[in-house]
Amino acid sequence: DLSTTICGKKLSTCIYNASGPRTGSSDALSKVASSRSGAVLAKSATVNEQTGNPLPRTFQADGKGSLNSEGLPNKGIDYYLSQDTIEESMGESGKPYFVSISGHNLADNLAMLKKIDSVDGVSGVELNLACPNVIGHPIIAYDFDQMDAVLSAVSKLKLQKPLGVKLPPYFDGPHFAAAAKVLNKYKSSISYAASINTVGNALVVDTVAEMPAISPKGGFGGLSGPAVKYTALANVKKMRDLLDETIDVVGVGGVETGEDAFQFLLCGAAAVQVGTKHWIEGAKCFDRIVGELEELMEKKGYKSVGEFRGKLKPW
Ligand code: DHB
Repeated sequence: DLSTTICGKKLSTCIYNASGPRTGSSDALSKVASSRSGAVLAKSATVNEQTGNPLPRTFQADGKGSLNSEGLPNKGIDYYLSQDTIEESMGESGKPYFVSISGHNLADNLAMLKKIDSVDGVSGVELNLACPNVIGHPIIAYDFDQMDAVLSAVSKLKLQKPLGVKLPPYFDGPHFAAAAKVLNKYKSSISYAASINTVGNALVVDTVAEMPAISPKGGFGGLSGPAVKYTALANVKKMRDLLDETIDVVGVGGVETGEDAFQFLLCGAAAVQVGTKHWIEGAKCFDRIVGELEELMEKKGYKSVGEFRGKLKPW
């Protein structure tokens, strides 16, 4: 039994897609819904449709890391909330459908949240506090005062829909503690925290061209893939230890195999998202990863995720 519960909704498997690659259209989302993904999560939306940063804006470094600075290309929040999109994406799958938002400012985020709250067929919303790629907008969740202000305003909306927050990676004890303190302050409004977004502002250098590998922001972009898995595991473990037990932790970062997913679950993840590998392999990655996790659990004698979740043994 690989099922789990997120935002009060049952997911048939604890593996689903991250917001990001292959999540911008109903065509792409329908492929996720048809796979063994336990849920479907749409691309981070802005109030209006936008095309994003100049190309080239993504790069697959060496199978170990990928770099992106897409700048939030998306069809605008109304698209992701339309009944046509939801129907085309989800079909008869019966799976939970989640949207993600990454507004240009607090007013945009509040306006989108109000819209989302009344839409049938949306199981929850992931508020992105961690996008590194919008020029002139530093990562919200690295500024704990701003993070507090955003969550204070959001909590005052008294939303009906469950809310998740997408976090950037943290690297130092006091930063983990400060972030968890803010989230715990608003625990009655937060259903889950997803760790991690990309490791922001990495640089890949093209030796032949003697240039950065991508064009926007002088070549600086978010690093993802296996290169960030250990940072992601640390963030999941730390957040699980520090957050109130009512806030689920969703693990994301460099997951390529069922074994990777198992490690995130051991560290306390309620569910595991897949971003970069979904981009590289397509939606069939969910069938493969779920199958591998099933096989590993069987080998270890586990019948359900609850038997080992959060049970990383101490030395
Ligand atoms: C983009 C990248 C992110 O890491 C994110 O959280 C949101 C948007 C992007 O470049 O499109």
